[in-house]
Amino acid sequence: MTPTTPMTPAEQPILQVRDLVRAFGGIVAVDNFSLDVYPGTIHGLIGPNGAGKTTTFNVISGFYAPSSGKVIYLGEDISGRDTSALAELGLIRTFQGTTLFHQLSVLDNVRLGCHRSAKAGVVSRILGRDRATEDAADEKASGILQFFALQHLAEELAANLPHGYQRALGMAVALAADPKLMLLDEPFTGMNPEETKRMAKLVRRLRDEQGVTVMLIEHDMQAVMGLCEIITVMNFGTRLAEGTPDEVRANPAVIEAYLGSAVDAA
Ligand SMILES: Nc1ncnc2c1ncn2[C@@H]1O[C@H](COP(=O)(O)OP(=O)(O)OP(=O)(O)O)[C@@H](O)[C@H]1O
Ligand SMILES: [Mg+2]
Repeated sequence: MTPTTPMTPAEQPILQVRDLVRAFGGIVAVDNFSLDVYPGTIHGLIGPNGAGKTTTFNVISGFYAPSSGKVIYLGEDISGRDTSALAELGLIRTFQGTTLFHQLSVLDNVRLGCHRSAKAGVVSRILGRDRATEDAADEKASGILQFFALQHLAEELAANLPHGYQRALGMAVALAADPKLMLLDEPFTGMNPEETKRMAKLVRRLRDEQGVTVMLIEHDMQAVMGLCEIITVMNFGTRLAEGTPDEVRANPAVIEAYLGSAVDAA
């Protein structure tokens, strides 16, 4: 657990999105969009509903191939690679909803997450019978549950957890895969202010204590502004603005985009 220093300008970006286009039939969801994410930052991606944020995440994380343009991760062109190959490189995303195995225990969910990491080994992952790998996964899973203060719930079925804990478990599962870059799609959705505060603290600790670079989509402006060092604003598939929370908040084009949409601009 090495603490990392937020962005130093001399550093190479961990992620470079270049002239990205993704169309669905006639709909151009992402339209010539570019972005740099620097190691050790918490980078926000915001914008009105339908701006193309989730589609951008889907392309970066390998769920969709780009129509054109490039995604460069750790200096390597990864455009069009599939999600499991990217997970092994430490590029992990979570979804707009929870994606847990509800009929498995909290601990088993995290143990399964451990098997997405490159270190688990391809063969043991397929057969699932390698004792040494299983023991290592057990130990790692317990450590992760402790990090997220979920250890007292280890034997509980995921389905029985309150919503806030389920979201924390989703992040625990993601952390089990040894991410270098974690993409979080609306991590605070459906949370009350108390849960949001707790979750935001966890995201910051992921960066500070686990050295994970975080990119997050979120509509909760207060949470985004409090958590992110840099924010990119999307509108109609393009980049509308980028800057510190204060810069973005004061940008007339950003204010206009939010006022012109049905989104709860805060
Ligand atoms: N699989 C798909 N097929 C067709 N159209 C799609 C698909 N995925 C997204 N779109 C369209 O692309 C546009 C951008 O959608 P996207 O989900 O990326 O927006 P978003 O910024 O994540 O919005 P929200 O804040 O509401 O989650 C929308 O017009 C959407 O309807
Ligand atoms: Mg979305």
